Amino acid sequence: MPGILMPGTDVTIFICISCTVEGARSDQPGRALFDAVSSAIAEKPACNAVVKPVDCLAVCKRPCTVALAGDGKWTYVVGDLSPDTHADDVIAAALSYGATANGIIPWRERPQSFRKGVISRVPPVAFRPEEQGL
Ligand code: FES
Repeated sequence: MPGILMPGTDVTIFICISCTVEGARSDQPGRALFDAVSSAIAEKPACNAVVKPVDCLAVCKRPCTVALAGDGKWTYVVGDLSPDTHADDVIAAALSYGATANGIIPWRERPQSFRKGVISRVPPVAFRPEEQGL
């Protein structure tokens, strides 16, 4: 699958393919979101984001769920996404994420679904609290 969005940046999009949504058009909405994002990114030759399926992100009550991760960056977990309407949002957020140095996407660049659906953010392993005065 394709890789990075911009030179010197990186982003991996993890998508839970096991999420189910009552009343969804697809009986595998997580898989449908993964397929939609993968297909859209494959059509963008300059977009090198890596899309990986995962079995569960442990936020099963907020389907469909994704996580954006990158080396040395904060990891974001986002839920309440629909394969029918949010594939472009996932890609837009990944583009913004990939362009950041630390993974923190400026609020104005976050798609509405990501503003509402964010579940958690986790600092990178090398996070140094003292640099934030903590
Ligand atoms: S089944 Fe998707 S987060 Fe658990």
